[in-house]
Amino acid sequence: MSTFEIVKKTHFIVVTIFFLIYLIKTILLLANKTEALQSFTKKIKVIEMIVSFLFLATGIYLMTQIPEIKPMLIIKITIVLMAIPLAIIGFKKGNKGLATLSFILILAAFGIGEMMKNKKAVVSEQAVNTDGSINAHELYTSNCAKCHGEDGKAGITGASDLSATQLSNDSISSIIVNGRKNMGKVEGLTPEQTKAIATYVTTSIKGH
Ligand code: HEC
Repeated sequence: MSTFEIVKKTHFIVVTIFFLIYLIKTILLLANKTEALQSFTKKIKVIEMIVSFLFLATGIYLMTQIPEIKPMLIIKITIVLMAIPLAIIGFKKGNKGLATLSFILILAAFGIGEMMKNKKAVVSEQAVNTDGSINAHELYTSNCAKCHGEDGKAGITGASDLSATQLSNDSISSIIVNGRKNMGKVEGLTPEQTKAIATYVTTSIKGH
C-alpha cells in the first residue's frame, strides 16, 4: 500500500468516527438530553480532539497529492469548512437549528466522499453481444459514464476529460483496475472486459 492509500484509509476511518460523534451529539441535543450531551461531550473530548486533528491533517495531505483540485472536491471541502464552525456554535449555544444544519452538511460531504469510492462493476446482460463478443459501449455506459459522461467530458466528482486523454490502452486498463487518486478502482471486470473498455476509450471517446 502506498502512503497515499494509507492516508486515504486513515482519513476515511477518522471521518467516520467524527461523523458518529456528531450523530450522537445531534441526537442528544434534539432529544433535549442536555445532561447526557454534556457528559458525552466531556468523555469524548480528548478523542474528539485527536480525531479532528487527524481529520484535518489527512485531509490537507490528500489535497496536496491531487494534481488539480476539481469542482466536486471544492464543494466537499467548502461544505466541511462551513459545517465545522456551525457545529461548534450550534453545540455551544445548544441551538438545534444550527446543529442540525451542520449535521446535514457533514452528511452531504460524507455522501460525496462515498460517491467517489471504489465500486463493484455493473455487468448487465447487454454487456455481451449476440455473437458472444464484449459490448464495450454498454460496459462504459454502466460503469464509467456516471462520472466521465457518455462523451468522456462530464467531469463529475472531478473526473478527467477522457476525450483528451493521452494515455495508452494499458495505462487506462491499469487505472480501471487500480484506481487513481480521486477515482476508485472499478472491481470485478474480467481482463478482457477491462481491455475492451480501454480500447473503447481510445477509439470511440478520445478525439471526439
Ligand atoms: C466515481 C467516479 C468515476 C468513475 C465511476 C470512473 N472514473 Fe475515471 N476518473 C475519475 C476521476 C475523479 C479521475 C481523476 C483521477 C485523478 O485525479 O488522478 C478519473 C481519471 C480517469 C482516467 C485518467 C485520464 C487521464 O488522461 O489522465 C481514465 C483513463 C479513467 N478515469 C477511465 C475510467 C474508466 C474507463 C471508467 C469505467 C470503467 C472510469 N474511469 C470510471 C472518476 C471516475
